[in-house]
Amino acid sequence: MKGESLSFEQLRGWRPCRRGRWRTLKSQLLAASLTCTVLFVYACTQDFLYNPTYFSLLWGNPTQPKQVTLLIWYEPFGKRRRVGDCHLLFNISGCQLTTNRSLYQEADAILFHHRDIGEYGDFPISKRPASQKWIWMNFESPSHSSWLTALGGFFNWTMSYRVDSDIFVPYGYLYSRKRAKIVLPRKRKLVAWVISNWNEDHERVQYYNQLREYIDIDIYGRYGMDLKHDNVVKTVSEYKFYLAFENSLHTDYITEKLWRNAFKASAVPIVMGPSRYNYEMFIPRNSFIHVDDFSSPKKLAMHLRFLDKNIHMYRRYFTWKKRYDVHVTSFWDEHYCTACETVKASGDEYRTVSDLAEWFES
Ligand SMILES: *[C@@H]1O[C@H](CO)[C@@H](O)[C@H](O)[C@H]1NC(C)=O
Ligand SMILES: *[C@@H]1O[C@H](CO)[C@@H](O)[C@H](O)[C@H]1NC(C)=O
Ligand SMILES: *[C@@H]1O[C@H](CO)[C@@H](O)[C@H](O)[C@H]1NC(C)=O
Repeated sequence: MKGESLSFEQLRGWRPCRRGRWRTLKSQLLAASLTCTVLFVYACTQDFLYNPTYFSLLWGNPTQPKQVTLLIWYEPFGKRRRVGDCHLLFNISGCQLTTNRSLYQEADAILFHHRDIGEYGDFPISKRPASQKWIWMNFESPSHSSWLTALGGFFNWTMSYRVDSDIFVPYGYLYSRKRAKIVLPRKRKLVAWVISNWNEDHERVQYYNQLREYIDIDIYGRYGMDLKHDNVVKTVSEYKFYLAFENSLHTDYITEKLWRNAFKASAVPIVMGPSRYNYEMFIPRNSFIHVDDFSSPKKLAMHLRFLDKNIHMYRRYFTWKKRYDVHVTSFWDEHYCTACETVKASGDEYRTVSDLAEWFES
């Protein structure tokens, strides 16, 4: 997709004419025009000059880059906002993002945000263009996604945090960069947790209730202290550890709690989510602590105390910073532009996601 674009001259093998070559050029021109005449007469008699396939064989395809219109059917969570320009933001050309439903018939693909399907349900009712791709987009976990079964057989592509989605958009990722020295912010405090949805039934709250018997944990958010300057990263930077506990435990469901709240703030994430094995597909094995690494919250607390006293061991958790940096995906333009880029690169193969619930819940 991001291949070099050739200029017109390069494509035609065009070179400026030099005087000394005029004679050869003249005879070449003569031969060429003769060939052309013969071809033209033949073409006319065969009535294929106007057939686009043969036309492009003769003259080459026009070098127009593919233009894609991506219609965003619902503005996520009903919030109206201006959609960005993929070229300005991400250097992705040929993408028209729109929320204007009048462009339904001409859209190459339509993006449906899962939560809003349940909320509004107003699918396009006029005839569905045959080659149009309907994309199911969801960044919540299966525990917080209803209606899945009813939506089987509706969409052509999936887009989510799951690696095996047709369009994979994780909440964040590590990317390699030039080797750098590890610099950690000054850390005077021990364990932080930012939580906005407190539910005693959640596994994470139950675990916290046990863990806090053995170690002090500072709570921020709706049920705790206010964030410093309203900024998670600034607040958490002062801590050695962060509880990156997901609201539910599902394959690949690793959110900004890890990427932004912990990694961006250079706090060691203590994760609760999918298995350690699943985490290690995305981040180095020695960059985090998994609650499953310990047989009890008490044992975990002992390990945290040990690391608190042993700065050398603590710093080992940041070895990844020598070679990697963190990218935190930004909602929603990055998602839209990634979708558009994928549509642009796709062929016109047909497919339908028939087992949406079965797949997403697996
Ligand atoms: C933008 O993409 C084009 C090719 O699509 C590439 O040649 C150019 O270097 C890119 N620019 C930046 C700033 O990445
Ligand atoms: C939506 O698109 C139609 C057709 O191109 C156009 O007439 C209309 O003004 C657009 N509406 C908005 C709000 O941009
Ligand atoms: C998309 O899925 C629908 C519903 O199954 C199907 O009718 C249509 O042919 C599919 N289109 C593409 C481009 O895959």
